[in-house]
Amino acid sequence: MNLKIGVIKGDGIGPEIVTEAMKVLDQVGEVYGHTCEYEQLLMGGASIDVHGIPLTDETVETAKACDAVLMGSIGGDAKTSPWYKLEPSKRPEAGLLKIRKALNLFANLRPAVLYDELKGACPLKEEITEGGFDMMIMRELTGGLYFGERKTVEEDGVLKAYDSLTYNENEIRRIAKRGFDIAMKRRKKVTSVDKANVLDSSRLWRKVVEEVAEDYPEVALEHMLVDNCAMQLVRDPKQFDVILTENMFGDILSDEASMVTGSIGMLASASLNETKFGLYEPSGGSAPDIAGKGIANPIATILSAAMMLRFSFDLDKEADAIEQAVSQVLKDGYRTIDIMSEGKKQIGTVEMGDLIAGYIK
Ligand code: NAD
Ligand code: IPM
Ligand code: MN
Repeated sequence: MNLKIGVIKGDGIGPEIVTEAMKVLDQVGEVYGHTCEYEQLLMGGASIDVHGIPLTDETVETAKACDAVLMGSIGGDAKTSPWYKLEPSKRPEAGLLKIRKALNLFANLRPAVLYDELKGACPLKEEITEGGFDMMIMRELTGGLYFGERKTVEEDGVLKAYDSLTYNENEIRRIAKRGFDIAMKRRKKVTSVDKANVLDSSRLWRKVVEEVAEDYPEVALEHMLVDNCAMQLVRDPKQFDVILTENMFGDILSDEASMVTGSIGMLASASLNETKFGLYEPSGGSAPDIAGKGIANPIATILSAAMMLRFSFDLDKEADAIEQAVSQVLKDGYRTIDIMSEGKKQIGTVEMGDLIAGYIK
């Protein structure tokens, strides 16, 4: 099979971690008889440096013509990078929001799994992590606060800023359906997270989620307020199967969930629309503090590439091979610095990619 993959290396650690994921994909290609045809795309700071804007319309069109896009991460240090002297609509993050909207990538899947081998890197107590845990965060990605009207005005000499949070019932229905469909393939439980005790958008969210649930009688649905969810994620993460939530809550809760799996460097993600196309990226950022040092954890990006093989190409066997290789490397005690614990062997980004690729035979 020929896999036409758009590649956004991005900024900061982006190029380092994407290079390792491509190495693993090439090894999969070699072993299973596929060819990966990569199309390099510029987004974020890397695009600003060349085109003056974080994402051109031509790049969006080229991305659309690919079967899937693999991405590192974009952005820089807001204090020191010249990109943040530009107006907000021209900064790196605006490119990411533009591509999500342009490709209609409304469903963001972030699987938070505590590997048995990584218990030592998890900050939670052993009695909480016993037996590991495995949850899927389903984050709505093209609505809510990120895409509402926003402005800053001056009234009577006082600055005032507005960001509006809007959802219509169709936007809620399509992500809820996706959440229930995924729950049907897992442990059949959906925790819908909102702030229905305060927000109208959350009350509509809850109503529509309940309507969708009627079509899935086998799935247990519970509603949870977002503040409680933030607490429950560290008190008892095992209770969660699918967490279904809106854009901003999903952003925050997924970073929290990543830490209970050991590190943000472990959290993969897939952003999907109604077709087989998807954009696959680690959930974390460009980590400017460690960029260029060769110490970033490439596993989230490698696991995102596995998600790409599974969702966009239906290559389940190949995706399994990557996931097993990651498990094996962790079992053998190899760790990047972010997941390092006593008695383990510390290695860098490139060695981690080499080892994982080496296990795919
Ligand atoms: P961040 O996720 O980049 O970093 C937070 C912390 O986690 C840092 O200490 C970093 O070193 C560490 N970290 C992140 N990924 C790691 C990895 N793979 N291995 C080891 N350690 C890792 O968040 P931030 O510092 O708030 O943001 C930095 C920039 O990234 C900002 O410009 C932000 O807008 C951008 N960002 C981009 C994306 C994306 O492209 N999808 C996601 C989040 C943040
Ligand atoms: C993420 C990131 C982005 C988001 C930023 C960089 C715009 O934090 O993918 O989680 O908030 O969605
Ligand atoms: Mn985030």
